[in-house]
Amino acid sequence: MKDRLAFFDSGIGGFSVLKSICIRHSYFSAVYLADTARIPYGSKTYSEIRDIAFEISQWLSHQEISAVVVACNTTNSLALDVIKKYSSVPVFDLIGSAIDLIRESRIGVLATPSTVASKAYTNQIKSVNPYAFVREEACPEFVPFIESGQFDLLWFKNIVSNHLENLISQNIEAIILGCTHYPLIKPIFEELVPSNIRLIDPADALSKRLDSFLHSPPSEMDLENLPFDIQFMVTSDPIGFSLNTKKWLGINSKVEVVSLRSKSCVF
Ligand code: DGL
Repeated sequence: MKDRLAFFDSGIGGFSVLKSICIRHSYFSAVYLADTARIPYGSKTYSEIRDIAFEISQWLSHQEISAVVVACNTTNSLALDVIKKYSSVPVFDLIGSAIDLIRESRIGVLATPSTVASKAYTNQIKSVNPYAFVREEACPEFVPFIESGQFDLLWFKNIVSNHLENLISQNIEAIILGCTHYPLIKPIFEELVPSNIRLIDPADALSKRLDSFLHSPPSEMDLENLPFDIQFMVTSDPIGFSLNTKKWLGINSKVEVVSLRSKSCVF
């Protein structure tokens, strides 16, 4: 049986999660929803993100899927309970999975302002190691740069360096890439982060957690060969997004525009 996984994010960030899962699991199909009309999520309020999570969960509940992959740390940190409550299929999340990978006790987290404000990573890490030192660093500039494709500029690297310095100066031993957009520019982090500090991508743990769920056994896969049965949906700019599926995933895709339910929900 071929499982159909649903991924969602504000934009292209979830591609990093999709890629991690594709490296480990080759036999599944997918629907990928990018809420491009409302990107970035990382500067939105608690209630805005929870409303968005509710709408997305409602929309996903009308799709034929076998599981939801929360490919967005911001909704993961502020609204995982909403997504779980309104999903009729299992939900796999990044922050809960990340703890499978953490061995160090001094951890830095790079994430969006909303994720950092939620302290979701700090709380999750301390739930397994109360003595851990966790320093979270909000990086409001990263997502717009990554989405625009203009991240190879020297002054963007300077911005990245400044954020990293705030973590490195705390003698941290590992850095969690706590926004799914960030692994897309992993080479920049690898260049700027000292080699004694480990970079952690929570998606690696999430894809392992899928081992016991997916009906096909894990099989290493060539990324040149992504499964082609992926349906891409956006809330705006399908042409721009189609260019991004080609650029980041090597897939020529037909991108559909969907309207998410706009009824507001008070939690
Ligand atoms: N990629 C998402 C995350 O992991 C959302 C980023 C944004 O839209 O600000 O947080």
